[in-house]
Amino acid sequence: MDRFIVEGPTKLKGTTVVSGSKNASLPMISAAILTDEDVVLHNVPDLMDIDTMCKLMFQLGCNCGRKKDTLRINCSGLDSDFAPYDLVRKMRASILVFGPLMARLHSAHVSLPGGCAIGVRPVNLHINAIKSMGGKVEIENGYIISETDKLNGSTVYFDIPTVTGTENVVMAAVLAEGKTIIKNAAREPEVVDLIKLLKKMGAKIEGEGESVIEIEGVKSLKGAEYTVMADRIETGTLMCAALITHSEIEIKNVPLYAIDAILDKFIEIGGKYILTDNGMIVGGEYIKPTLIKTAVYPGFPTDMQAQFMAVLSLANGTSIIEETIFENRFMHVAELNRLGANIIVSGNKAVVEGVENLVGASVMATDLRASASLVLAALAAHGKSEILRIYHLDRGYEKLEEKLTQLGAKIWRVK
Ligand code: EPU
Repeated sequence: MDRFIVEGPTKLKGTTVVSGSKNASLPMISAAILTDEDVVLHNVPDLMDIDTMCKLMFQLGCNCGRKKDTLRINCSGLDSDFAPYDLVRKMRASILVFGPLMARLHSAHVSLPGGCAIGVRPVNLHINAIKSMGGKVEIENGYIISETDKLNGSTVYFDIPTVTGTENVVMAAVLAEGKTIIKNAAREPEVVDLIKLLKKMGAKIEGEGESVIEIEGVKSLKGAEYTVMADRIETGTLMCAALITHSEIEIKNVPLYAIDAILDKFIEIGGKYILTDNGMIVGGEYIKPTLIKTAVYPGFPTDMQAQFMAVLSLANGTSIIEETIFENRFMHVAELNRLGANIIVSGNKAVVEGVENLVGASVMATDLRASASLVLAALAAHGKSEILRIYHLDRGYEKLEEKLTQLGAKIWRVK
């Protein structure tokens, strides 16, 4: 298993470029199931999760070929509705084939994803929505088995605005008969990006980015070419890298429209930024404590909680971080404490007492964003750190260590 060795503290300088968004690319790949024609996606990051999604597409009879950052997917050979546990357990986002399979084949045999390091993460809302659209659903041997003669439009109310749930229902509804209304839909920019692609494919959708989305089913969809949005979480992670190391770096390809909450907290804790052409120069000399409460978009993203915690562990005072989206997303706390942080967890709140210095240690990555927080902390820590289980990081950050090395960090991958 690969690990990182990091020598700190580091000063970063130079320019880096944000990659395409993982969480926007994944549903777009599965959207190719909805048509016989090519779906061509540009700016797709080269990541393990994208490879896993392509493997799943092959399993369904689709083709998925990459040239640089362009992915061409063709599902004219779609001949299976089976998403096996072996692939789904590697990546929960595999559930994103459920809606498109029901729309196109009227049947799906998809493994339940099961829990993961950050929470139980049920998919009951996805299932209830498909049921309300006329899908018969049984759970057998850990699989969702669903079929229908045809999907009908329906009014779907989510009691929690779920991101992949909204994406699944939108993709099911675009080929259903009649109108579907999703109430309390997720408003995340990645959902909006998916809808923009679907519209290019000929779907009739209104209300993207709002909490009520209306979809009028059409008979068929065509292929399309689309450039995936830049990754807002990678952007935020790089901003945190600049601040935790008291450096100044330029970040290019920034999805400025999607990072209001991140930018707001960044400034509050002492970060500075200047807008440049398609990017910004970020940095900061001092870290100030704050209160953070994760929330659905446009609130502060749970996917940035761990990285801000790493930065705040060096703040001049006490911060409180409240996690409201996932029930177990504090696994990084014990590891940050191994690096000398002073963080106590009580329920869904973490009290982060800022310390003067972090000190290098061996730590274990537990999930994707937790891994990023450990890399950030190790960049600032005095001495050598070793970060184990970085396969979590490889799932969602494209060439992070290469980007950091180019910025002057001392970080090495050990095979
Ligand atoms: N929920 C339910 N029932 C459902 C669906 C969700 O109770 O049927 C609950 C979840 O347990 C959670 C809340 O609703 O408490 C929100 O979960 P959501 O469904 O929105 O999460 P997701 O769609 O599984 C996506 C991202 C995550 C990100 C969350 C929240 C993708 C592929 N994944 O997950 O990204 O944290 O939204 O923004 O888009 C990551 O990239 O590291 C990551 C975990």
